Amino acid sequence: MAIDTTIRDGVLSIAFARPEKRNAITTAMYAAMGAALRGAATDDAVRAVVVAGSPGVFTAGNDLGDFLANTSGGLALPIAHFMDALVDLDKPVIAAVTGPAVGIGVTLLLHCDLAYLAEGATLAMPFVALGLVPEFGSSYLLPQRLGHARAAQCLLLGEPMDAAAALAVGLVNAVVPPAAVVERAMQAAARLAALPTGAVQASKRLLREPQREAIRRAIRTETEAFGARLRSPEARAALRAFFERRGT
Ligand code: COA
Repeated sequence: MAIDTTIRDGVLSIAFARPEKRNAITTAMYAAMGAALRGAATDDAVRAVVVAGSPGVFTAGNDLGDFLANTSGGLALPIAHFMDALVDLDKPVIAAVTGPAVGIGVTLLLHCDLAYLAEGATLAMPFVALGLVPEFGSSYLLPQRLGHARAAQCLLLGEPMDAAAALAVGLVNAVVPPAAVVERAMQAAARLAALPTGAVQASKRLLREPQREAIRRAIRTETEAFGARLRSPEARAALRAFFERRGT
């Protein structure tokens, strides 16, 4: 399935496990992650969630082969179900960004509560170069977090952000040696799992509530635009070019 999940000491850990494809996320992986998050929402044994990459890479984002094969005219439902489950979860989510994150790998960080990033890792959102547009709230949340100019640098120019910049703008809580990222995230998760559960969840709801409707609206608008872009000749050409460059 290329997703490893474990529940231990109140913490659900969801780890990408497709390193040979830089943890590019397939529809089946989104389905597995969405199911794990929906299970976590109602499982009293889960009090915090960690989303982790594998050594050296967080994720290369959506599987571009899946995008190319998608002729349905819109985003595949499992992606939306996974992101809905993430956006709706009252339990705290911590990202262990073990290496570079691309596309939805960066978008999902905007919906996590805490994030730890590997030294040397970059965050990139090359949607426009692929003929696509930002998705799942990033066109709303990134300018809000970074200001318009720096968000445009990421979302329009597609310039990767290095770890120091990600820390400086508050996208992550700390930059740590790559081998320590998962442990650091697990420590934070353990601390959250040990706190009064009702208070943690009520506090997370309060932190998120003022933005909830605006995020939902942004996601609806982005999803419509993304579907149209996915069908566009620009995107089809850019996606084909990715694989042609590799001779696959
Ligand atoms: N979808 C599908 N396959 C992907 C992929 C993706 N998003 N990203 C990487 N892969 C595959 C490559 O095709 C390659 O497969 P192969 O060995 O069968 O040829 C393998 O993963 C390794 O990729 P490679 O580019 O050689 O690794 P790298 O370490 O040099 O670079 C990245 C890593 C993440 C910088 C680079 O793979 C990349 O830019 N990927 C595309 C990211 C992207 O555009 N994501 C979508 C955003 S919306």
